[in-house]
Amino acid sequence: MAVHVLVGTQWGDEGKGKITDILAEESDYVVRYQGGNNAGHTVCVGESTFKLHLIPSGILYDSCCSVIANGVVLDPAVILQEMETLRKQGIAVNPSKLKISSIANVILPVHRKLDSNQESKRHHEKIGTTGKGIGPAYMHKVARTGIRVQDLLKKTVLKKKLLKQNWGEVFSEDEYDLDQVVDEYHAYGKELEPYVVDSSLFVNDAIDEGKSVIMEGAQGTLLDVDHGTYPYVTSSNPVSGAACVGAGIGPHKIEKVIGVTKAYLTRVGEGPFTTELEDEFGEFLRDRGGEFGTTTGRPRRCGWLDLVVLKYAIRVNGITEICLTKLDVLDGLGDIKVCTHYKSEDGELLDEFPLDLEVYSSCEPVYKTLPGWKEDISQMTDFSELPDTAKSYVEYIAAETGVQIKMVSVGTRRRQTIHLITR
Ligand code: GDP
Ligand code: IMO
Ligand code: MG
Repeated sequence: MAVHVLVGTQWGDEGKGKITDILAEESDYVVRYQGGNNAGHTVCVGESTFKLHLIPSGILYDSCCSVIANGVVLDPAVILQEMETLRKQGIAVNPSKLKISSIANVILPVHRKLDSNQESKRHHEKIGTTGKGIGPAYMHKVARTGIRVQDLLKKTVLKKKLLKQNWGEVFSEDEYDLDQVVDEYHAYGKELEPYVVDSSLFVNDAIDEGKSVIMEGAQGTLLDVDHGTYPYVTSSNPVSGAACVGAGIGPHKIEKVIGVTKAYLTRVGEGPFTTELEDEFGEFLRDRGGEFGTTTGRPRRCGWLDLVVLKYAIRVNGITEICLTKLDVLDGLGDIKVCTHYKSEDGELLDEFPLDLEVYSSCEPVYKTLPGWKEDISQMTDFSELPDTAKSYVEYIAAETGVQIKMVSVGTRRRQTIHLITR
C-alpha cells in the first residue's frame, strides 16, 4: 500500500505540477481531490510545455492513470478542451488513462457569472478570484442544489435540477436559454460518459491491489477555506485531510504527506502577505522565477520564505517530507532572508501563525539572514555538487522545521531535480 498525498505549503504555485510529474513516473495513479480549473500547473518535458488545469500531471505517462475525484468541481467544456490540447501535444488521453467521478459537481455558466458579480460587488475587498466560477459552484454543492457529472447524462434530470438553481436571479431573460443549456451540457456529458466512474470504488480497488497512488492537492494550505487566510482563500480544502473526503478513501490508507515548498514565496490575488517584497527585489524574483499565473497570467506577488507559514502548513497537513522547489531562482544573491518569527503590533514575538487575520495583517516579519551563492546550480543533479551555502539553506529549513527534505528542484525540467533525504 502506498498512498502519498501531495500538498502545497504556501499560497499555491509551489511547483506541485513538476513534482507530481516526477513522482508520477513511479506511480500507478494520480488523483485530484479538490479545486477546479482555478489551478494551473506548468510541466516542462523535453521541448514541450504542458499547462494543466484539471487533469493531473500523471496523464503525461502512459503507465499512469489520472483520476478526477468527487471533491473537484468540473467545468466540462474546460476538461474537453484540455483533453484535446493534450492530444494535439501527442499525449494519449483515453478512458483507460483518465477517470472522472460520477458525483463531482459541475461548473455552469451561472457560476462564472456569479463569480464576477460577487467580485464586482466587493469593491475594496476583492478576493482576486480566478473568475472560473469555483466559489459559486461549491456554494451550490453545499446548498445541495448542485449538478453532478452523472446528472449531465439524463436530460430530464438535468433540466429539473437546473430549474431549482433560479438562473433568472442572476441572468436577464435574454441572456440564456435553459433548453439550450440543457442540450449543451447533456452533450458534454455524453462526450465524457466513457470516462465516468465511481471514483472512490475505483481508487480503493487500486489501493487494495497494492498500487501506488498520489493524491494531488491543488492550490495551497494558505488558500484553504478553513486553514487559510480567510476570506482571501479558495472555496475548497487543499489540505491533506481533504484527500479522504475528496476521493472517498479512509485516513489509515495514507502513508506519507509530501509538502511542496517554493524556496521563496508567492501569492496571486488579494490578501495579506507578511514577507511580500513590494520593491525592485520583488520584481527581480518575479522575472527570474517567471512568476506569472498559469491560469490568469496575473503577476504573482513575491517575497521571502516564511518559516512561520511553513511550520503551520506542516502541522495542519501532517507533512512527513518536503520537496523544495525553485532553489535556482535564488542563484547569485548576496544574502538570502528567511522569516523565522512575526512581531505583532504590540511588540510580541510570535512563532505560531495567527488565526486572526487582523493580527496577521499587522505583523512584521523577523528575518534571519543566510549567505547566498554565486554559482548557477540549475544543472546540478547531486546534493554534493551544490555550493556549501546552498546546502546550508536546504539543511537550515530541514533543521528548523524538523521535516526531511526529499527533493530539491533546480529548474523546470525533469532532470533538474536533486533527490536526497536530509536528516
Ligand atoms: P503549481 O501550481 O504548484 O503546479 O505551480 P505552477 O506550475 O503554477 O508554477 C510553478 C512554475 O515554476 C512553473 O512555471 C514551473 O515550470 C516552474 N518551476 C517548477 N519547478 C521549478 C524549479 O525548480 N526552478 C524553476 N526555475 N522553475 C520551476
Ligand atoms: P495552483 O493549483 C495560486 C487564488 C486566487 C484567489 C483565490 C480565490 O496553480 O497552485 P478562486 O478562483 O479559487 O475562487 O480564487 O485563490 N488561487 C490560486 N492562487 N495558485 C492556484 O492554484 C490558485 N487557485 C486559486 O488567485 O486569490
Ligand atoms: Mg499554479
